[in-house]
Amino acid sequence: MIGRKSPAQIEKMARAGEIVAGCLEMLKEMCRPDVATAELDRAAEKFIREHGGIPTFKGYRGYPASICASPNEMVVHGIPGEYRLAGGDIVSLDVGVTLKGWVGDSAITVEVGDAGKLAERLMEVTEASLWRAIAKCRPGNHLGDVSHAVQEYVEANGFSVVRTLVGHGIGRKMHEEPQIPNYGTSGAGPELREGMVFAIEPMVNAGSHKVVVGDDHWAVSTADSCLSAHFEHTVAVTAAGPRVLTARAGEKNKSLEAVSLVW
Ligand code: MF3
Ligand code: CO
Repeated sequence: MIGRKSPAQIEKMARAGEIVAGCLEMLKEMCRPDVATAELDRAAEKFIREHGGIPTFKGYRGYPASICASPNEMVVHGIPGEYRLAGGDIVSLDVGVTLKGWVGDSAITVEVGDAGKLAERLMEVTEASLWRAIAKCRPGNHLGDVSHAVQEYVEANGFSVVRTLVGHGIGRKMHEEPQIPNYGTSGAGPELREGMVFAIEPMVNAGSHKVVVGDDHWAVSTADSCLSAHFEHTVAVTAAGPRVLTARAGEKNKSLEAVSLVW
């Protein structure tokens, strides 16, 4: 059963989402050579708490940090630590915030200095696949339309989607039904209805879709050590169309060009 949220509940999720978005904007600015990922984590936790939120990830199934920071061939769930960013890196930053019992979850991949053409195209394609999926979040569409939108665009651009990790419903808990794979068939799966809220998160590899889990039992990396990118937004299905609850400054206009959205 896919739960549905009232308009008032979606407003509360949007307040959590604003903190997530602000935190990611701050982290993006911090991504310079020699910054340790642990410093990003500390700054994120401070930002979240100063805005009245709780870092959702911290303590989730024993996860030890407030954000995930996953550089280069690392796909997701990198535990921040001593690793220092270097010019030419890309790094996925994933943030979850609980505010008054409601959760927002979003991720971006950013470039440190100049990461080169392949990395930039990988990031662009991954982010565009997310927006294509977001555009499918309308009542009457099916969950498979969302999944298919990611897969079709990614594979048409010569990249691969990770199979073993998925997006998810979100609300009072970070992970609710349904699971949202980044591959699928148009028209398949449950029908989307007003009030459903999804965290859609394409994880896209430059090489093979295969991944491996690290010794810390969290970090997921590409099996072939090729680059990977990850973008995520929390999106509500509303009568008027998709509403992105974790939109950052500057995204509102950009996305309006691509898809018809509600803010
Ligand atoms: N966005 C990720 C997810 O939906 C973040 C979870 S990290 C964890 O799974 F540490 F909290 F698990
Ligand atoms: Co998520």
